[in-house]
Amino acid sequence: MSKVGIVLGSIRKNSFSEQIAKNVASLFPDGYKAEFIDIAKLPLYNQDYDENSPEEYTTFRNQIKEVDAVLFVTPEHNRSIPAALKNALDVASRPWGQSVWNGKPAAIISQSISGLSGFGANHHLRQCLTFLNMPTVQQPEVYLANAQDLLDDTGKITNEGTMEFLQGFVNTFVDLMKKY
Ligand SMILES: Cc1cc2nc3c(=O)[nH]c(=O)nc-3n(C[C@H](O)[C@H](O)[C@H](O)COP(=O)(O)O)c2cc1C
Repeated sequence: MSKVGIVLGSIRKNSFSEQIAKNVASLFPDGYKAEFIDIAKLPLYNQDYDENSPEEYTTFRNQIKEVDAVLFVTPEHNRSIPAALKNALDVASRPWGQSVWNGKPAAIISQSISGLSGFGANHHLRQCLTFLNMPTVQQPEVYLANAQDLLDDTGKITNEGTMEFLQGFVNTFVDLMKKY
């Protein structure tokens, strides 16, 4: 069984990111298990903690270590990734030389309530993942606009075209995972 960790850029309850991610999690084929990895309780990264890390850091690093790949689903905050997500990237990248992101295939979905669909966040995240040595799905890029209209009251994406597009994206991600 291959494991995909889902890391959300939003830490608010029932976020659009979470609802979208649940739809996408259902698209993985047999033999793949997608599980959410929480970043909300991570203390702000501090290099002083490299010597003696808080328990939350250790738990999170172990959770990332245990998955074969990571799917990021994120909103945009002020044209970049939310601080909580940057914090999580930093926490699991240290101590120096022990980054647990290293070499893990990744995929990115950005979303927004506006038409810009989190383009800035998507590409700032891509920049970080390049440095963290995470081979990342390049095409198709996934930018989901008007997130509030995409989801029904139960959190389901009802637009068939969007779900087909997301299925193609997941298939590409799975192909990438097989190469590593
Ligand atoms: C602090 C803050 C900054 C934001 N900046 C942007 C932004 O730069 N671009 C954008 O499209 N939306 C921006 N938004 C709106 C959210 O990204 C948008 O509503 C998103 O769909 C919320 O996703 P979530 O439900 O997963 O948290 C911002 C929201 C907050 C709280």
